Amino acid sequence: MTCRAAFDLDDGVVWLNSAHQSALPRAAADAAAEAVRWKQRPWELSTERFSAVPASLRETIGGLIGAPAGEVMLSNGASFGLHAIAGGFPFEPGDDVVVMRGDFPSNILPWRLRERDGVAVRAIAPEAAVLTPDEVAAAIGPRTRVVCLSWVHSFSGHALDIEGIGAVCRRAGARFVVNATQALGVRSIDVTSAPIDALVVSGWKWLCGPYATGFFWVRPELLARLTCRQAYWLSMQTADDLAAASDPELPVVWGPRQFEIFGTANFFNVMPFQASVALVAGIGPAEVRRVVDELVDQLIAGIDADRYELVSPASGPSRSSLVVFADRRPGATAALYRRLREAGIATAHRRGNIRVSPHIYNTPDEIDRTLHVLRATGAG
Ligand SMILES: Cc1ncc(COP(=O)(O)O)c(C=O)c1O
Repeated sequence: MTCRAAFDLDDGVVWLNSAHQSALPRAAADAAAEAVRWKQRPWELSTERFSAVPASLRETIGGLIGAPAGEVMLSNGASFGLHAIAGGFPFEPGDDVVVMRGDFPSNILPWRLRERDGVAVRAIAPEAAVLTPDEVAAAIGPRTRVVCLSWVHSFSGHALDIEGIGAVCRRAGARFVVNATQALGVRSIDVTSAPIDALVVSGWKWLCGPYATGFFWVRPELLARLTCRQAYWLSMQTADDLAAASDPELPVVWGPRQFEIFGTANFFNVMPFQASVALVAGIGPAEVRRVVDELVDQLIAGIDADRYELVSPASGPSRSSLVVFADRRPGATAALYRRLREAGIATAHRRGNIRVSPHIYNTPDEIDRTLHVLRATGAG
């Protein structure tokens, strides 16, 4: 059973591109409408709501990742958290960061900014699709302070061995920063016990949130070592404090609130995001994964291996909710992408491959329609 009724999908379009953007649940659309009503009557935007709305989102996210709500930092996507961590990290000249060649650019660019401070960013090419624990162990050098990787690789669909790589990082004394954008919601994590130091997530994919939502979490002991590069008044005062005329001071102790995005009471986005995360958390990542796995099984079983090369794993723990493949005939993959689109099936065409990413709202019938196009002859 899928949760299609919780969404408002047009039956004319088969949306199989959740790795790009998921559909917004009905409950989230209702929450957005309520936020709009509040803005139409601005007296509804009370001081209490300015803090209660983001607090409730942090609470829901905390429940999903096993962190106290106070440790959850709201953002507008993975890049925001990565900038806060990379920009504030206490590097010394000569230190280095290990990233994966070919990873999503969000995981690489914020560290590159620290090249100005004499930090080396070492982009390691994996032997296969993604780095293994052994490859990470071999890549870590005496000055490696950070390893930053995606949990699920956006372009190949391979899931990394987070436990294995985390253990390697722990042994080497390197910090492990994980981008869970293509995983969280369809996979679960308990950040307090996982061998990771930070988690960054964009909210508009597997968490079903609006665009420009997200959050990050940093192990408190590491957060205490980061330099906060921003001083946003509302992260230190309330609007009521404005009434008291005094010179604003920087905090004595910097905490999670100071690292967050400005305007955390962004009602139009935060209210629907809260409803989306609550829906995914309520169904539970294990159930989401069970449903999505069945769709992925069906798709992979129906792909003709003589004609299409499967780039993502066919089975096993490295398989994810992203199914990536290409037509073996030169030039035929772009034509297949167009044919799918003409048939009303939305997928992604990335780095020469087709990426199909079903979510909780997709149905076996939609996978059949997709396979029908893949089997159609004479194309390409
Ligand atoms: C792994 C990964 N990180 C990040 C993003 C995008 O988030 P942001 O724009 O905040 O970097 C995507 C989405 O395309 C992604 O796949």
